[in-house]
Amino acid sequence: MTVTDSSVSTTRSEHGSTRYDSADLQQKAKDHLWMHFARQSAMEKEGVPIIVRGDGHHIWDVNGKRYIDGLAGLFVVNAGHGRKRLAEAAARQAEELAFFPIWSYAHPSAIELADRLADYAPGDLNHVFFSTGGGEAVETAFKLAKYYWKLKGQPTKHKVISRSIAYHGTPQGALAITGIPAMKAMFEPITPGGFRVPNTNYYRAEEMGFVWNGEGDRRFEFGQWAANRIEEMILFEGPETVAAVFLEPVQNSGGCFPPPEGYFQRVREICDKYDVLLVADEVITGFGRIGNMFASTTYDFVPDMITCAKGLTSGYSPAGATIISEKLYEPFRHGDTAFYHGYTFGGHPVSAAVALENLDIFEEEGLNAHVRENSPVFRATLERLLDLPIVGDVRGDGYFFGIELVKDKATKETFDDDESERLLRGFLSKALFDAGLYCRADDRGDPVVQLAPPLTIGPSEFDEIEGILRSVLTEAWTRL
Ligand SMILES: Cc1ncc(COP(=O)(O)O)c(C=O)c1O
Repeated sequence: MTVTDSSVSTTRSEHGSTRYDSADLQQKAKDHLWMHFARQSAMEKEGVPIIVRGDGHHIWDVNGKRYIDGLAGLFVVNAGHGRKRLAEAAARQAEELAFFPIWSYAHPSAIELADRLADYAPGDLNHVFFSTGGGEAVETAFKLAKYYWKLKGQPTKHKVISRSIAYHGTPQGALAITGIPAMKAMFEPITPGGFRVPNTNYYRAEEMGFVWNGEGDRRFEFGQWAANRIEEMILFEGPETVAAVFLEPVQNSGGCFPPPEGYFQRVREICDKYDVLLVADEVITGFGRIGNMFASTTYDFVPDMITCAKGLTSGYSPAGATIISEKLYEPFRHGDTAFYHGYTFGGHPVSAAVALENLDIFEEEGLNAHVRENSPVFRATLERLLDLPIVGDVRGDGYFFGIELVKDKATKETFDDDESERLLRGFLSKALFDAGLYCRADDRGDPVVQLAPPLTIGPSEFDEIEGILRSVLTEAWTRL
């Protein structure tokens, strides 16, 4: 609740943001706020960073300190913070029609946004099913895949394949697709039918079982090998039982695994061969993150469904969507077939209006082209960090990079659980934040620092980010 008590300060600072009473908020947070994916004990002990304002690629905390937002909130604020026109678009829509469902009725913003997304989506992905976030978009795709095969007379096709360490959301269905055992163990039994194959972690290709025979391009061959593991899994389980494969164009969890050239082409071929649907989970990679509205376009493949959220509104209002091909839509065109699935707030008028305005900003400012032009400079700037003993790998694409930290560069030896705990939780996250960079130190796979800033930044900000990382990672090494 915003502080309104006259005993605490609510004056305007020179940045125009309301000044809050930090101690009061900390106490209320401790007493009542259950954080997501976080240890409550840390908040109880040390309090929580409270962010009060954003502008461009900067955020400010409750004490007035400024930070670079190196993660666009949570891969979300692609157009940057403080865009007044997005707030105004929300206000305009709320005044005219704050809410109406798309359950047998419709409203102009949802219709216009569906039309717009169909235009941007590759191939014949022309039908848009709205939700309120990424996990729901994945859940929708999972349910639709199962239903589609039942309608096509193949009711045993219900299993889904995804990749090791991939994150696809928290609803129980999406969790069945998520490939991070430690995040699932406490909720077992989870929706059955999820099967895992290797991801495209090229840095650790051999550890995953890839053997290069010295012929052809090593990275290309690795991509073919990884794709062929999907075929192997389909055959292990029986094609008549497999409904869909869920893949992020660039896998986030584990630290930014881009696809080797040819990977998605081979996956598409396999899916077509065995009548398995290909779902591109673009919750992170959509809306400019990889330099196009959809990364499926960047990597030149046409999935059967795209799931998206986050950057769709740049976070100014929550929204998610599942974009569906003509083939999948076809059985629903006729008769009394309906998809008995939906969300009260799916296609919310305010979120849809904000998304449309956000996409206008993308067009007017050429954000996708900006990312394509500057991505190589971002990469080269981060690669300078490879001279540090703790930096094993820099990888990613677009404005989406992971920096893998290792104990021994030559052997690629990683940290044990204890060291990871001390390094990532005990030191790095806080030290980077204290040094003015909000980003993510993640150990769902091997330890990585992840960067996904607003798409508006350029070379001088890349240098600034590199400078902060360099000093903090240098210190981290001395603490090992
Ligand atoms: C690839 C992917 N899919 C799904 C999700 C779940 O999205 P949400 O948190 O909006 O439910 C995420 C969230 O980060 C994601 O990265």
